[in-house]
Amino acid sequence: MDFDNTSEVPLPKDPLGMIIGQDKAVEIARIAARQRRHLLLVGPPGIGKSMLAKAMAYYVQKPTQEVVVAHNPQHPERPFVFVRTAKDIREHEVIEKKAQGKIVSPEQVPPFVSERLGFRCSKCGAMSSSDEAICPECGEFKLNEREQSSPFSDLLSQVFNVESYYPEEEVHVTEIDETGREEIVIYQRAGGMKVRVLDSEAFKSLTRLEKLKKSKVLVPLKRNTFVQATGASETELLGDVRHDPWGGMPEAGGTPPYQRVVPGAIHEAHEGILFIDELPQLGKLQHHLLTAMQDKYFPISGMNPTSSGAMVKVARVPCDFIFVGACNTNDLGDILPPLRSRILGSGYEVLLETTMSKTKQNIEKLAQFFAQEVILDARIPHGTRGAVEELIKEAEKRAYEVDDVRNALTLRLRDLGGVIRLAGDLAKLEGSQFIEPKHIRGAIKNSRSVEQQLVDKYGNIWRGQAKDHSSSHIISNEKSAKGYA
Ligand SMILES: Nc1ncnc2c1ncn2[C@@H]1O[C@H](COP(=O)(O)OP(=O)(O)O)[C@@H](O)[C@H]1O
Ligand SMILES: [Mg+2]
Repeated sequence: MDFDNTSEVPLPKDPLGMIIGQDKAVEIARIAARQRRHLLLVGPPGIGKSMLAKAMAYYVQKPTQEVVVAHNPQHPERPFVFVRTAKDIREHEVIEKKAQGKIVSPEQVPPFVSERLGFRCSKCGAMSSSDEAICPECGEFKLNEREQSSPFSDLLSQVFNVESYYPEEEVHVTEIDETGREEIVIYQRAGGMKVRVLDSEAFKSLTRLEKLKKSKVLVPLKRNTFVQATGASETELLGDVRHDPWGGMPEAGGTPPYQRVVPGAIHEAHEGILFIDELPQLGKLQHHLLTAMQDKYFPISGMNPTSSGAMVKVARVPCDFIFVGACNTNDLGDILPPLRSRILGSGYEVLLETTMSKTKQNIEKLAQFFAQEVILDARIPHGTRGAVEELIKEAEKRAYEVDDVRNALTLRLRDLGGVIRLAGDLAKLEGSQFIEPKHIRGAIKNSRSVEQQLVDKYGNIWRGQAKDHSSSHIISNEKSAKGYA
């Protein structure tokens, strides 16, 4: 190891390069990401399963689709679903822009239009705000009496002795365009001295927009390609339709069904990676997961049968994800056999390593690990070369104690990372510039798990546990003797 402290250790730029001692798994993960294959990672806790799944997400192509749910006017409880590509989204923005029409000044529209909108004085032709009834230029009433739009104007002017002023909000004009075709152009007052001009193209865009307005983006284009689900709840995994006390009737103040649709992790992982840690804990949900993997579509409906959401169902919501599951070796039997055969059929099962042989190269890998952990933690100092050597001794000891392998280094790196962090805290407390060997030794002493502490104290775990039981037993007997029970 040619460095004085771990700040000099070169780090990989590649996220998969940060994973130590799992060369086979890393290679397969790389292929799985590129070829979109499923993956099952098997092994004890703290050896890099989650890390591997997350790193894979860097190698997955960026999403190209956005998933949208839309109002179904014929059957609101069966909202439509469709995908939009980046190109569609750009086109939509163009439509939105077109639908705004053109904003011009009153001078730029035909005089009779600006007159009827209340800008132009029909007497002298001067322009003024449409809020003013009297022309500030000639002092006359601006509107042309013959074109007064209110049928009550005569009556009103008699009763109140004022001339009523009702300029029009909007004037429709049939115009002939350059190609000789007739088209309707709409001129609208747009606040201040502004007129909005909507030609037929803008009008078409507006109608399209009106239809699209009743839609909601379920899964946006810009999203994370890594989605983790715990399987703690069905709705988290498969989505839901929220309850609405007004039965989804907008007339009654309710929220329409399509707006209450919530995507599940399987939908959010569309085009990306769905990671499920402790896969066997999914239990029966594994069936649904399998269906989603086979069909690449999964409906969303309200999960709570007593909720108004239960009446809503969105069919065929896309969920084309790469599945990465993780589990302990002991729990393999709790994974649904068809799910495993699906993974094997279009992907890989990988058993992760728990130790690596003690070679020069692997010793350097552990130095890299030390440096990585310091940087990831961001609050502890780097370690000296001596500290790394001390950690390597511990890694070798653990490979033997835990996994019964000699001349090897442990890959149960979460625990070893804990040692580094604790040592870092000790160094920091002392105001030391680096983590020194003594800090590593101190941390090892303090970071022993309760099981290890039992071994230290009683020689083995079981004797310690037996003692625990008997002592509580004695206490309860004493209590009952005193009449507590
Ligand atoms: N193979 C590894 N290479 C580098 N760091 C690791 C490795 N395994 C575990 N670690 C460290 O331990 C932490 C926890 O690992 P994690 O991937 O969550 O383990 P698992 O999912 O297998 O329980 C990681 O964030 C990392 O700091
Ligand atoms: Mg994990």
